[in-house]
Amino acid sequence: MSHRPSLFEATTWITEAALQHPDDLVPHVAHRLGTHRRLARALLRQLVAAQWLHCSGPKPLVRYRPGDFRQVIRRYALAGLQEDQPWTQDIAPCLALPEQVARMARWALAELLGNAVAHSGGRAVTVSVRQTPLQLQMLVSDDGQGIFDKLALSHHEPDPVQGLLSSRGGLQRTALLADVMDVHANQVGLQQCDWDRGHWAPRRPVSARGTAVYVAICLDTGRTLESVLQAAAQANQVWADALPMARLPERGLVAVTQATQA
Ligand SMILES: Nc1ncnc2c1ncn2[C@@H]1O[C@H](COP(=O)(O)OP(=O)(O)O)[C@@H](O)[C@H]1O
Ligand SMILES: [Mg+2]
Repeated sequence: MSHRPSLFEATTWITEAALQHPDDLVPHVAHRLGTHRRLARALLRQLVAAQWLHCSGPKPLVRYRPGDFRQVIRRYALAGLQEDQPWTQDIAPCLALPEQVARMARWALAELLGNAVAHSGGRAVTVSVRQTPLQLQMLVSDDGQGIFDKLALSHHEPDPVQGLLSSRGGLQRTALLADVMDVHANQVGLQQCDWDRGHWAPRRPVSARGTAVYVAICLDTGRTLESVLQAAAQANQVWADALPMARLPERGLVAVTQATQA
């Protein structure tokens, strides 16, 4: 006897299935689940009601396409991973995002994958990307040593909050692009929100091993990739100028004057 397919489980693959099988989704789903067409049809009706699918056309010729909720989940080996390839090849084709959100998401994902490749020491990374009517949500989890242990060892920063606050690299920029960003590793979970910039609040840690970074960007964000990267560069310039000033007051003052004149 065929079991009733799970709606939740189907949301992990229905976006790609609808793109690949717009005209024959019922037989495809029935075959995939090893179930009757009747149960596959019932599942598709549930997915349409929950906005995971749109359907159009008269009954025997019904066509399906992805709805307002979309999801792609992929696992990649870290060895030889090109950091921009997952977005262009597997993820972007499944989404329908405002252009500015797509550009920020592409940049953030490439940065997080680059970090997993360069810093994690792990073997694989899982990327889960979900579009909702309000947000783009990405979760990038590797199976490496964990960012907070890494920061403690290589940056001599044992405090996870200070470790994230002192980042002047891609992580800081990714946090500035996001409306919400979570970083989980080494039994620590931290979250920064757009409405509370500069504050990493504790969260219940979720990753058993490695590093998991969650980034949510509102679809109606007023930010752009350029405005965020420019603001970060300016903030980092002030910060970089302030360092020599703190240590060597005279040289620091010269550096600030030059930066203002430039
Ligand atoms: N996935 C990861 N696993 C382990 N350590 C990480 C990971 N991502 C980032 N880090 C640590 O956090 C630091 C800051 O990252 P980032 O701000 O992206 O700067 P960068 O990549 O230029 O060093 C890295 O240098 C590394 O030590
Ligand atoms: Mg980086």
